[in-house]
Amino acid sequence: GLPARVRIHEVGARDGLQNEKGTVPTEVKAEFVRRLADAGLTTIEATSFVHPKWVPQLADAEELFPLVGDLPVALPVLVPNERGLDRALALGARRVAVFASATESFAKANLNRTVDEALAMFEPVVARAKASDVHVRGYLSMCFGDPWEGAVPVPQVVKVCKALLDMGCDELSLGDTIGVATPGHVRALLTELTEQGTPVAALGVHFHDTYGQALANTYAALEHGVTTVDASAGGLGGCPYAKSATGNLATEDLVWMLRGLGIDTGVDLDRLVATSAWMAEQLGRPSPSRTVRALSHK
Ligand code: HMG
Ligand code: MG
Repeated sequence: GLPARVRIHEVGARDGLQNEKGTVPTEVKAEFVRRLADAGLTTIEATSFVHPKWVPQLADAEELFPLVGDLPVALPVLVPNERGLDRALALGARRVAVFASATESFAKANLNRTVDEALAMFEPVVARAKASDVHVRGYLSMCFGDPWEGAVPVPQVVKVCKALLDMGCDELSLGDTIGVATPGHVRALLTELTEQGTPVAALGVHFHDTYGQALANTYAALEHGVTTVDASAGGLGGCPYAKSATGNLATEDLVWMLRGLGIDTGVDLDRLVATSAWMAEQLGRPSPSRTVRALSHK
């Protein structure tokens, strides 16, 4: 059966805005995060403490985080290494996320490391975060397909998942960075992970909607018992270091489906749509989310 409740991990302010051509003013980002919280989202990924030259769109992390840090929601931030962790901890972050890759090509493109070198870089980050009682998410990119390497074998993905859990990550987010997954592939990966002993409660899913499969993939994950789903308000998003990564699963499309299934998310869909319509105005182009379009032209 399907879960009664799903926790949405909102990534619009991070995965969404990291991919914008122009730079969004810090105050607009802060307003976006506040509006997302007001719409009932309880986990809102705020920004990344990465190298500012690698992701200039999020170079204002030090200015942004204090503007939203007092909101009564969880505000995870991305940290690639100890330098990133230091920056996040200095501002009082209580949740961080490291981000690994299942493939060598993307590890190189995104982190300038091999898969193993990246894992070695994360180890002290996770250990120090845990020692400070900070919650750690471990992202894993290219879990289904990679733009340079093609289809990614399930055992290769399972191996990196295990390494992330063994080093102490509290939860994983299985990323379909370029949106090529289909429901059977999702089922195959989740089955392998749970059969090898990973508790399904530690697994989240992170779908991009490049091929229009994100909701179908989400449904397959829900059937498997997954209750943490990443989504991006208005369907903003992509990844600057992955060729052909387009928008994330739109939070509104997700909420529409879950509401129809009677699954509770705590999100006020009207407020969320209004937020994405407002953000679309700031960005100067319409939201790609079908649900945002349908509900804002009523
Ligand atoms: P590197 O060039 O190998 O850096 O980049 P380094 O370790 O050699 O350090 C070089 C210099 O950078 C040093 O300064 C460091 O201090 C500085 P110097 O001594 O030369 O003056 N530095 C930093 N400065 C500020 N903050 C830091 C930091 N780290 C080093 N954190 C690095 C390696 C990891 C830094 C770089 O590759 C990087 O920042 N990558 C981030 C890429 C990124 O953010 N990608 C998008 C997020 S992942 C994603 O979107 C996928 C996801 O959504 C899931 C999915 O869809 O699959 C999560
Ligand atoms: Mg992503």
